[in-house]
Amino acid sequence: MKTAGKMAVEMEPVAVAGAGGLRLYPGYLDRGAQMALVAVLRQVFAVAPLFTPGMPKSGRPMSVRMSNCGPLGWITDEAGYRYQPHHPVTGRLWPPIPQALIAIWNELGRYAYQPQACLINFYDAAAKMGLHQDRDEEDFNAPVVSVSLGDTCLFRIGGSKRSDATRSFRLSSGDALVLADGDRLAFHGVDRIYPGTSTLLPGGGRINLTLRRVTRPGIEVQA
Ligand code: SIN
Ligand code: MN
Repeated sequence: MKTAGKMAVEMEPVAVAGAGGLRLYPGYLDRGAQMALVAVLRQVFAVAPLFTPGMPKSGRPMSVRMSNCGPLGWITDEAGYRYQPHHPVTGRLWPPIPQALIAIWNELGRYAYQPQACLINFYDAAAKMGLHQDRDEEDFNAPVVSVSLGDTCLFRIGGSKRSDATRSFRLSSGDALVLADGDRLAFHGVDRIYPGTSTLLPGGGRINLTLRRVTRPGIEVQA
């Protein structure tokens, strides 16, 4: 268990079936660390408010709301999926990735380069996310490091082909998940939220943070 501001020796992930690169850390952040992270995220939202992303081509609204921090942020709209340095609605640069999140990457990522984007997804009680791969990055050797806050969700993950068998497990507030190596390109999604399962977010709902490395090693993005 990780407490706010304190670096521990990396805890052991629980085994999850996969292609060897899926690591689940149940209860990775204790309640204090979760609360500290929510406070930091409030500052992020003050600069980069949640917006409703649209699906490529159709522009159909997704059920999650999104924001980002870091020199790059992932967005989607009629023009497609991409990383860009500015918020699509305000036009402002994304705020920096908070140190508490960099520390999680450093502790769990097992990767030499720093994250460049942190996608923030907010799920209300009815939101979900269809099965997809995270493949808009240039560097698939870098992991995706995910942290969940608030209500529990039912997370689904399969293999690197859409037709591969999937399995499901719950992600609860404070859990961390790493997709790396053979599971870096695993299809994954969120089937449902279990409302009322956490008191962390006063209005309910779930926040998921995914830290990503976007460019190839050695190519840095100026903030
Ligand atoms: C994502 O794949 O972008 C989010 C996954 C999650 O909400 O756990
Ligand atoms: Mn994803």
